[in-house]
Amino acid sequence: MPLLFRKVKELRNHLKGLKCDRDKPVSVGLVPTMGYLHEGHKALIRESLLQNDITVVSIYVNPTQFGPNEDYQRYPRDLQRDMAICEDLGVDVVFAPTDEEMYPLGFSTEVYVKGLSEVLEGKFRPGHFKGVTTIVLKLINVVSPDRLYMGEKDYQQLKIVERMVKDLLLPVEVVPVKTVREPDGLACSSRNVYLSEEERKSALSIYKSFLLAQELINKGIKDAKTLRQKMEEFIRSFPLVRKIDYIAFTDKDLNPKIEVEKGDRILVALWVGNTRLVDNWEVS
Ligand code: PAF
Repeated sequence: MPLLFRKVKELRNHLKGLKCDRDKPVSVGLVPTMGYLHEGHKALIRESLLQNDITVVSIYVNPTQFGPNEDYQRYPRDLQRDMAICEDLGVDVVFAPTDEEMYPLGFSTEVYVKGLSEVLEGKFRPGHFKGVTTIVLKLINVVSPDRLYMGEKDYQQLKIVERMVKDLLLPVEVVPVKTVREPDGLACSSRNVYLSEEERKSALSIYKSFLLAQELINKGIKDAKTLRQKMEEFIRSFPLVRKIDYIAFTDKDLNPKIEVEKGDRILVALWVGNTRLVDNWEVS
């Protein structure tokens, strides 16, 4: 079983001990998660295990990144199950702090990446990225990792964390890991458990719309407006898609594109029933 820590001080002491005990430098990889681990998380963990001496997986459903009407209360939690997955993979340390530990009484310091946090997801989830960057910075401060593993599934989050690391001169390398998909193409997400069988079929509209867009691009259609129209029409043909928040075409740094080319990103957020799904696609 991985060692489970709930307190910042205890984890820090443990990691300090590990670093002192060995005669050569010990590399540490941090995989920040909100738990309910799936294949996407497993890919992050495997990458960290390959590249570092010690892998720390943090499991913390961070309240500050959820809006007042979002799914904080119902977000799936199962620490025992997550510990078993971490054990199978060979994780060294799990950090599952309490709220009091991460947000001590009187907590009033936040970190915010301007600009990037205000577009796309930022428009629909005000305050979300401030919560993400604040907690990720705190986790980096607790673990002092050499490498930080982030999935491309939440592409905007990855770009914002990269920006924060650069801007604040944090001594950590951000390692992006490709999105893992279910066999039918649905991007792995802890929120997929909310979907009924019927809803899951409609959730697949996202992946299928990426394939459609890629096919059109391959045929020479590069105009973002036309591609958006085609994708929207296609997605709307799925009965349980309730609302499309956005279909966006950007370059790899999230700047909007008018003409789409290789290496650009297509980002989608939509609602299937009461579940909000986000996914993205690298144009090839
Ligand atoms: O992607 C997530 O699961 C969360 O946003 C993260 C990075 C663990 C911060 O709470």
